[in-house]
Amino acid sequence: AAPTALVVAIDGPSGSGKSSVSKAVARALGLAYLDTGAMYRAATWWCREQGVPLDDAAAVAAVVRAMPLVMGVDPEAPGVHVDGTDVGAAIRRTEISSIVSAVATNLEVRAELGRLQRAAIDAERAGGFSHGRGIVAEGRDITTVVAPDADVRVLLTASEEARLARRALEVHGAADAAAVEATRDQVVRRDADDSAVVQFHVAADGVATVDSSALDFDETVRAVLDVVVQASGRV
Ligand code: DC
Repeated sequence: AAPTALVVAIDGPSGSGKSSVSKAVARALGLAYLDTGAMYRAATWWCREQGVPLDDAAAVAAVVRAMPLVMGVDPEAPGVHVDGTDVGAAIRRTEISSIVSAVATNLEVRAELGRLQRAAIDAERAGGFSHGRGIVAEGRDITTVVAPDADVRVLLTASEEARLARRALEVHGAADAAAVEATRDQVVRRDADDSAVVQFHVAADGVATVDSSALDFDETVRAVLDVVVQASGRV
């Protein structure tokens, strides 16, 4: 008989290395990959494109419900398209990063995107890109709200210092004092704003914590794969 699909949920704050680690885990296991943060970013891009003021919660929710979003789930090239436009690069820019929390804290938006995320996970359980092997889904509320029934649930944490240094390196190509300060808004303020509606600093019951502060990338991937083996009895 075909083995059942494996669903791996990974949550964590900005700069924890979540996206790159989750992608590598998906690749190692032959699973699909869903970046749910990219969906909140795409929704923010689309609202700007449509000229909707982000403080009009009802209008934002309506526009997001009608958003023609296509999320790629190939960990080698997880494309994001809205209305046929490749927004992969645009949604990573500071203009979006600095305002995405306004959309991510809209509860109607969360309900809608959560529904799409569950549908993407179910599609991989049934077949999809992974041919039923399963999916790694990462974000802030995957282990708790979107897929509390996932086979494996991981909270990827890191000290604030480590997270700031990583984001600075990513965005500015350096982790000197100036670059770290320039990144503080992106990491600390945004996580504080997002924490108003989602809790991703403490592991929920049954969620394994991996602290990557003292680990390099490969060690972090290995630590998450160890949790997968322990939690699922597979690989
Ligand atoms: O992980 P990221 O930086 O790409 O996430 C973008 C924004 O979306 C960030 O402000 C947190 C929010 N987010 C969320 O609220 N829930 C998720 N499951 C994923 C991201």
